[in-house]
Amino acid sequence: MSHLLTVSVSPRQERSWSRTLLVEFVDAYRLAHPGVEVVNRETYEIPHISWEAILAGRTPITDQTPEQREIFQLQECLTEEVIEAEHLVIATPMYNWGLPSALKAWVDHLVNVRTYYFGAVGSFAHVPITVIITSGALFSEGPQVASDNLRPHLRTIFHRLGAQEPYFINADPTGPLERGEIARDDPAGAFQRAIAEIHARVSAS
Ligand SMILES: Cc1cc2nc3c(=O)[nH]c(=O)nc-3n(C[C@H](O)[C@H](O)[C@H](O)COP(=O)(O)O)c2cc1C
Repeated sequence: MSHLLTVSVSPRQERSWSRTLLVEFVDAYRLAHPGVEVVNRETYEIPHISWEAILAGRTPITDQTPEQREIFQLQECLTEEVIEAEHLVIATPMYNWGLPSALKAWVDHLVNVRTYYFGAVGSFAHVPITVIITSGALFSEGPQVASDNLRPHLRTIFHRLGAQEPYFINADPTGPLERGEIARDDPAGAFQRAIAEIHARVSAS
């Protein structure tokens, strides 16, 4: 089974620029790949990693206690969703120069006994990865690039998991859009530039 896996992060729902761009990506992808199944993972529903989940993620499956096996089912599910994806698209804001904690919780469960300790590393290698990133200020280029810990961290995570290099669609800065200083349909604004990039990425995939 193969699907488009979308990972959403922003809690701002319909006010969210990254979620709006994710919808644009999904619509474009569906047009290009008729009949594709879309599976969404809502990171805000993923619990922060508990002691039992840490143990489960580091214990050979055959040695897990019933409690650990129960928690491991979530980790297994998150891992399978990626392995079975034909494309993974994450839509995330930058929070405090890095990953929002909800996205980090997804990563913390994903890096588990299957993906890291048992050498299933490489099983993500076939999955193209797109990451749509919003931030209030400009971090994808210019003087603040050195303070961007989000893109380098994601690159490290996927590299260490044997996955493909993530392709970033930069939708920054959103601050001027949010404050109404730039219209949403202004071709020079971050939103329209990201939409153009989304269509180019989908056409190439
Ligand atoms: C907790 C929090 C931390 C943030 N940290 C940053 C930041 O480090 N740099 C930045 O440019 N914008 C930051 N922002 C602004 C968001 O990245 C920006 O509003 C973005 O558009 C949010 O994504 P969304 O529109 O998809 O919800 C932060 C916002 C919040 C709520």
